[in-house]
Amino acid sequence: MSDDKQNPQGAQATRRPEVSRRDFLNEITVGALGIAGLGGAALTYQYFSPNVLFEPSTTFRAGNPDLYPANSVTFLQDQQVYIVRTPEGFFAVSAVCTHLGCVTQWKPDADMIACPCHGSKFQPNGKKIEGPAPRPLPHYAINLTADGELQVDKLQIIKPDQVLKA
Ligand code: FES
Repeated sequence: MSDDKQNPQGAQATRRPEVSRRDFLNEITVGALGIAGLGGAALTYQYFSPNVLFEPSTTFRAGNPDLYPANSVTFLQDQQVYIVRTPEGFFAVSAVCTHLGCVTQWKPDADMIACPCHGSKFQPNGKKIEGPAPRPLPHYAINLTADGELQVDKLQIIKPDQVLKA
């Protein structure tokens, strides 16, 4: 027998099944409805899931008091706070300018805190020297933890004459 003979069943097996227009439209419709359903489910899930904004804690530990030399101003960049140590004790001063919110810089040579944006200047205790800032730099509550570390609460503004003796 020759190999050239065609097998009618083999030829039939390789033919693609015919899809009617109705079946094609049904499949398209089911697919579109499925996609729309998934989108609706995703939107519903997003609507009902809580919108939680995780903000950093306003209270932070500033370490052992011995880390801060006497008569020093230490800028804590991640908290944007100055820890000031005077012979009377410690206080924590905001490093955010009260004019338009720029972060100030400690200038040890001039013994002052200066704002790079519009030129406000402050004493190390936050008192305004000059410039457009309407208020002094606020003082935050500072205390000692049970294990002897400094702790600052940026939500509590205190009077500038309150000093932590440590
Ligand atoms: S933001 Fe500091 S002086 Fe304007």
